[in-house]
Amino acid sequence: MKPRKRHVLLLWMLVYSGLTEAIEPISTTIAVGMAATLTAFLASYQNIFYHFHECCRPEWISFNRTALEVDLSRKLFGQHIASRIILKAVNGFMKNANPKKPLVLSLHGWTGTGKNFVSKLIAESIYKEGMDSNFVHVFTSTLHFPHPSQYLTYKSQLQQWIKGNVTNCERSMFIFDEMDKMHPGLIDSIKPYLDYYDKLDGVSYRKAIFIFLSNAGGDSIAQTALDFWKEGRNREEIELKDLEMLLSLSVFNNKESGFFRTSLIDKNLVDFFVPLLPLEYRHVVQCVMAEMKDRGVEPDQYLADKLAKDLVYFPKSERVFSVKGCKTIESKLDYYT
Ligand SMILES: Nc1ncnc2c1ncn2[C@@H]1O[C@H](COP(=O)(O)OP(=O)(O)OP(=O)(O)O)[C@@H](O)[C@H]1O
Ligand SMILES: *[C@@H]1O[C@H](CO)[C@@H](O)[C@H](O)[C@H]1NC(C)=O
Ligand SMILES: *[C@@H]1O[C@H](CO)[C@@H](O)[C@H](O)[C@H]1NC(C)=O
Ligand SMILES: [Mg+2]
Repeated sequence: MKPRKRHVLLLWMLVYSGLTEAIEPISTTIAVGMAATLTAFLASYQNIFYHFHECCRPEWISFNRTALEVDLSRKLFGQHIASRIILKAVNGFMKNANPKKPLVLSLHGWTGTGKNFVSKLIAESIYKEGMDSNFVHVFTSTLHFPHPSQYLTYKSQLQQWIKGNVTNCERSMFIFDEMDKMHPGLIDSIKPYLDYYDKLDGVSYRKAIFIFLSNAGGDSIAQTALDFWKEGRNREEIELKDLEMLLSLSVFNNKESGFFRTSLIDKNLVDFFVPLLPLEYRHVVQCVMAEMKDRGVEPDQYLADKLAKDLVYFPKSERVFSVKGCKTIESKLDYYT
């Protein structure tokens, strides 16, 4: 029930009791007593309602740091850099009661390395309903904004959606998938929401979270990972600084990348660029084992090895990284079992 309705009701009771007061003091007492009982009933009804129906309240939206930390370390394989950045970034942002701007993360990496998967883990650590929450919105460029010629229509639609949803709930999350295929004009149109504004048209966007997913920069991340591998160095030795420079060059100078010509970058509106490394054979095996566990079947090392061996790896001669990451495992597993 909307608070306004309750106010109207209370007002009505006051007026009513005021009228009766003049007539009969005893029934006034009864009326006030009844009003109090009714209000208490309504309040508890409201609590029950909030309990069963998702709403923009701490019962439904609260960050669980432990859950995110545990999920990142147990469920996400081979992404030590991304795990670290994401935990710090999300935790810092959610702890801050008065952030100056929304949190903007940009995830980059080869296909099947876990970009959507990580977004899901983040959503699950904040929203009780996870990705099914009414406050988590996913926009896929090729699905929601397929025709470049219609970008002006998309633009006003998208702005309305963002504004409407944040007005509904300031703790809203927006995930933009396939950001590299998004029209630069469309990216520019969401820029104001990412910036350091106190309020725009009376709406504050500072508690929202924006996550961009793209393959842009995936090649250069893979190249760096391959260089480390060739030098016989440990994958875990790769640090953010080894990738940061490359990432910015390849992402922002790439004409096919949606970031091209947009000023998201020059204005420093993206808080964290998160690189996802290409996955090796051993990670694929881990993915298969995890998938088996998810299905409630006994994890079978032999089968996992067999499935992982049948995937395609690059570069052709060394066969180090899985071309599709962990992406096709689900359907492959159906075939192997
Ligand atoms: N690093 C990882 N750790 C654990 N599971 C993973 C990882 N990467 C991918 N997976 C598994 O593979 C599936 C597909 O991954 P996901 O959709 O996140 O890939 P993506 O990076 O979004 O790829 P694309 O660029 O093609 O969209 C996930 O649902 C998840 O089960
Ligand atoms: C946070 O997550 C952990 C691990 O999943 C869980 O044990 C704990 O109960 C959660 N805490 C809250 C307050 O929900
Ligand atoms: C919120 O976003 C969704 C798209 O995810 C859109 O369909 C809906 O209309 C938006 N709500 C408002 C109030 O704008
Ligand atoms: Mg994806």
